[in-house]
Amino acid sequence: MAKITTSKLLKMKQNGEKIAALTAYDASFAGLFDKNGVHALLIGDSLGMVLQGKADTLAVTNHDIAYHTRCVQAGVESALIIADMPFMTYSNPELALKNAHELMAAGANMVKLEGGEWLYETIRQLTQNGVPVCGHLGLTPQSVNVFGGFKIQGRDADKAKEMIEHAKGLERAGAQLLVLECIPVSLAQAITEAVAIPTIGIGAGNVTDGQILVMHDILGISSGYIPKFSKNYIDIAGTMQGAVELFVKEVQSGEFPDPDRTFN
Ligand code: KIV
Ligand code: NA
Repeated sequence: MAKITTSKLLKMKQNGEKIAALTAYDASFAGLFDKNGVHALLIGDSLGMVLQGKADTLAVTNHDIAYHTRCVQAGVESALIIADMPFMTYSNPELALKNAHELMAAGANMVKLEGGEWLYETIRQLTQNGVPVCGHLGLTPQSVNVFGGFKIQGRDADKAKEMIEHAKGLERAGAQLLVLECIPVSLAQAITEAVAIPTIGIGAGNVTDGQILVMHDILGISSGYIPKFSKNYIDIAGTMQGAVELFVKEVQSGEFPDPDRTFN
């Protein structure tokens, strides 16, 4: 299959075809996901939790992400490769350019940054320098200490309105993709309609243009706890390949996530 690009993902949104994405951290799993129809792979800073066993993502370094990006890149033919920029690696445009360079050189096709208005200038500079950007709004885990825990975001009307404005601002600044994490489905719908770029949801209902999950959750290997919005596909499918195929199929049909895994 041909390499999936940002313009392919945009076309998918325009055609109403859903985008299936998973996190990946190594060549073997990345290859399995790539061969079974996953369109985009994220080297998430969730690796701080699922690989390093920490309680949050804050200790992950740019080198950690670069290393795992090289691993993923080695296993991938088609999927778009997105690398997370870790906590404090993009606190100003200059730092963001330097760290994004390392991730792109490691094999990323796009970088992902958490936040709204404060990132507009950084995103402008990244895209002008040839670095495609994915935004991330809602429950942005790098701000867990500001939020006072991993909590649903955008529940009150003012915050929801602000998030829609930030989504539009990220798009204007040059972002080509947008992750929406743990927000009410009505807000996810409003944002998805307000921007032309594809939205990828996690805990945002089935109204976004695509879905992303942490691979450990769909394969049932997250230590004991699985978030309400996620789904253990290995329980249903029995094999890893079957789990990936079923995830992709349910994303494409809109079956995933069902109302029980959606916030209202
Ligand atoms: O780090 C990560 O895995 C993520 C996704 C859950 C969106 O940012
Ligand atoms: Na992340």
